[in-house]
Amino acid sequence: MITRRDLLSSVATAAAVPGILSAAAKPFPKGFLWGAATAGHQVEGNNLNSDCWLLEHLPESAFAEPSGDACDHYHLYPHDIRLLGELGFNTYRFSLEWSRIEPEEGFFSRAELEHYRRVLAACHEAGVTPMVTYSHFTVPRWFALKGGWEKTDAPGRFAKFCERATRSLGDMIGYATTLNEPDVAALLGWMSLPNGQTIGQMIGSRLPVIRKQLGAPDFSSFVFADGRLTLPNLLRAHMQGKEAIKAVRSGIPVGVSLAMSDDQPASSGSRVEEKRAAVYGPFLEAARKDDFFGVQTYTRAIVAEKDLPPPKDSELTQTGWEFYPEALEHTIRYAAQKTGVPIMVTENGIATEDDERRVEYIRRALAGVGRCLDDHVDVRGYIHWSLMDNFEWNSGFKPKFGLIAVDLNTQKRSVKPSAAFLGNIARRNAL
Ligand code: BGC
Repeated sequence: MITRRDLLSSVATAAAVPGILSAAAKPFPKGFLWGAATAGHQVEGNNLNSDCWLLEHLPESAFAEPSGDACDHYHLYPHDIRLLGELGFNTYRFSLEWSRIEPEEGFFSRAELEHYRRVLAACHEAGVTPMVTYSHFTVPRWFALKGGWEKTDAPGRFAKFCERATRSLGDMIGYATTLNEPDVAALLGWMSLPNGQTIGQMIGSRLPVIRKQLGAPDFSSFVFADGRLTLPNLLRAHMQGKEAIKAVRSGIPVGVSLAMSDDQPASSGSRVEEKRAAVYGPFLEAARKDDFFGVQTYTRAIVAEKDLPPPKDSELTQTGWEFYPEALEHTIRYAAQKTGVPIMVTENGIATEDDERRVEYIRRALAGVGRCLDDHVDVRGYIHWSLMDNFEWNSGFKPKFGLIAVDLNTQKRSVKPSAAFLGNIARRNAL
């Protein structure tokens, strides 16, 4: 059995790490949210009723490996949340796993809702504000088999889940985002592969194969979907989901989180503005009526007709993205200007085995956040992706985004120097 001691054995080591805080510390606004994020399917393990579990176990699956036990966060959340608090963070962003809570349409599991009440209670006990994502990519199997986000009744289905979950959990939720990155399918349509196809087109070509393998002609998941059909429904799902949450608990601040690259024009003929309007435009417009807007940025994209590959000689991370922490400052400024509402950085991070590069990435990304604050851009929080190394979707467990390492055999957690680095900044609320 894993004991708390086993899990926390490396906290002391990490506390001794980088003496990065100089005497001339730059203070952040009072009440600034400092956190780390996870998503249910990526950390909980055994998410059997989800569409992803189904896809991971198909013959010739597009996933490098199945999610399996993942980080067993479903059972180990008390340790993980306590550790997050001990490191100095005041916010935990995590997702409710819709497929656990509503494993069949209209059947809501009280036991699973109780599970998430315990997760929320663990946050409060650790002095940590819970920021809850109602849907982070995965959906219940039944929902995917019925056509997922491609169907016009999808927003209504999602809103019912939001309503039920908020009735059971709302009194304990600090901040809510309806959907995580509903613009992803549209964004993938701009990313080119060496063969000239976009990632979106490649995914589109796999969808009929998946449907055939499953014997389910309507199957559609979050990513394996026709983005042209899902985008308008996801937009309505955000609006109806927000309404449902607010109808039960009007006091919960609600927003949506978008995947945003720092789009830079390759030349004067660049389609950068067209890309921004198509991918982010509808959600940025909707966010004008929200309580805050979640920015999720990892790198930049140099846009010509489509996104170009990263510049030659640029440093690449494990996911093949350019090491470019300044991207965050640019997307924050863009999103703040377009939405006019407070900005929350709900994800930012880097996949690397070299934790010193993570420290450097965080240092430069936060310097950018600091410059935004200097210019009176209303940034309310910085939530790092990710609390721990986890299941990076189709890439499996190889990319390491975590502040905390996880041994998948023993489930032992080891705090990395970057966790102590960011945790110390959080504790001091100063750079
Ligand atoms: C997603 C996470 C993912 C991360 C790194 C974001 O797009 O919300 O689930 O792990 O990026 O790829």
